[in-house]
Amino acid sequence: MEADISLNINKVSYSLKLEPRVTLLDALREKLGLMGTKKVCDRGECGACTVLVNNRRINSCMTLAIMHSGAEITTIEGLATDGELHPMQTAFISHDAFQCGYCTSGQIVSAVGMILEERPKSEAEIKERMSGNLCRCGAYPHIVAAICDVLEGMENAAI
Ligand code: FES
Ligand code: FES
Repeated sequence: MEADISLNINKVSYSLKLEPRVTLLDALREKLGLMGTKKVCDRGECGACTVLVNNRRINSCMTLAIMHSGAEITTIEGLATDGELHPMQTAFISHDAFQCGYCTSGQIVSAVGMILEERPKSEAEIKERMSGNLCRCGAYPHIVAAICDVLEGMENAAI
C-alpha cells in the first residue's frame, strides 16, 4: 500500500505516493528523475549513492524514503547555485578527479558533507573520512588533491 510522503530535496518540496519499502535512492532516481545520485552496489558498500540529510552524509540505498519526511535532503543536483558549480565540483574538474564517473557524484557530495560535519586537519584524515566512498578507477590521489584545494581556498585554511 502506498503512503503519502513529503520530501524536501534541494530546497524543493515534493509530495509523493510511495510504498514504505522504497529506498531514498530509488525515490530520487525512479520517482523524481534525479539521476545524479548513482546506484552501484545498492547495499551500502561503495558510497556512490551518498546524499546529505540535514547536512550529514548518508548512503541513500540503505535508508527508506519514508524515514526522511520533512528533512532537508541535498543531492549532487543541489550543489550548484545560480548556474555556478560548487567549488568542490570545480576542483574535481580541475584536478581530473574522475575517470568513469560512477563514483563521482557520491565522492563530491561526501566531500562537501565531510567538511560540513567537521573540517579535516590533514590528508590522512581526509582519506580516513572519505573511506566509505570507493573508486574502482583509482582516482583517489586526484580526489584528495581536489578536496585539499577546496580547503585551501576556504578562509583560515588549516591544511
Ligand atoms: S549504491 Fe549505495 S552504497 Fe553503493
Ligand atoms: S571514477 Fe570510476 S569509479 Fe571512480
